[in-house]
Amino acid sequence: MESKSSDLISLIKSRRSRRNFIFQKVDNNTIKEIIECGRWAPSGNNTQPWKVCIVTHPTVKRMLAELSDYGGIMESAYANLVIFLDKERGYDRVKDLQAIGAFTQSLLLGIHAKGLGAVWIGEILKNKEKVDEIFKFPTEKYELMCVIALGVIDEALESKKVEERERREIDEFIDWF
Ligand SMILES: Cc1cc2nc3c(=O)[nH]c(=O)nc-3n(C[C@H](O)[C@H](O)[C@H](O)COP(=O)(O)O)c2cc1C
Repeated sequence: MESKSSDLISLIKSRRSRRNFIFQKVDNNTIKEIIECGRWAPSGNNTQPWKVCIVTHPTVKRMLAELSDYGGIMESAYANLVIFLDKERGYDRVKDLQAIGAFTQSLLLGIHAKGLGAVWIGEILKNKEKVDEIFKFPTEKYELMCVIALGVIDEALESKKVEERERREIDEFIDWF
């Protein structure tokens, strides 16, 4: 039990955004196992207000990539997980957004646990209506939350990136009462 929980803690602490991928397929079962991690995320009233489009088709990937300054990363990733808030399932804006955050982080941790790499792309939100058009989604039902670009890590390129993603010291943001 002890060792399992410390494995989980090191997994959480060692996750980093990965932006360099090699062209290698990730099989559908692996992608489903990753989504399964999100499935167990908490949500207010257990509303589970998420919807995911898994994009691997090069044409659809290109269409999405054109809507972001991070399009190069999105195109090089094997899959783009396009995450929407299902507004019909949601019931409280803040809580729905919190559920999507929990869902997204669970996916990122699942991806990391599988030894794959990913980055959360939020910048594409500037074109959220255009993303709806790609999927022919009604804007009143689904609202784009983010894209997770996911793939097999290009270790050669990533290892050159030595810069640490620094974190604030805990004492800077905690108070004991
Ligand atoms: C809401 C949100 C939006 C983000 N948007 C982008 C983005 O558009 N492009 C990108 O390269 N990284 C994006 N990131 C990743 C952050 O840059 C990254 O998580 C942060 O720099 C810490 O680095 P780490 O994930 O490697 O620990 C986003 C992360 C979050 C949580």
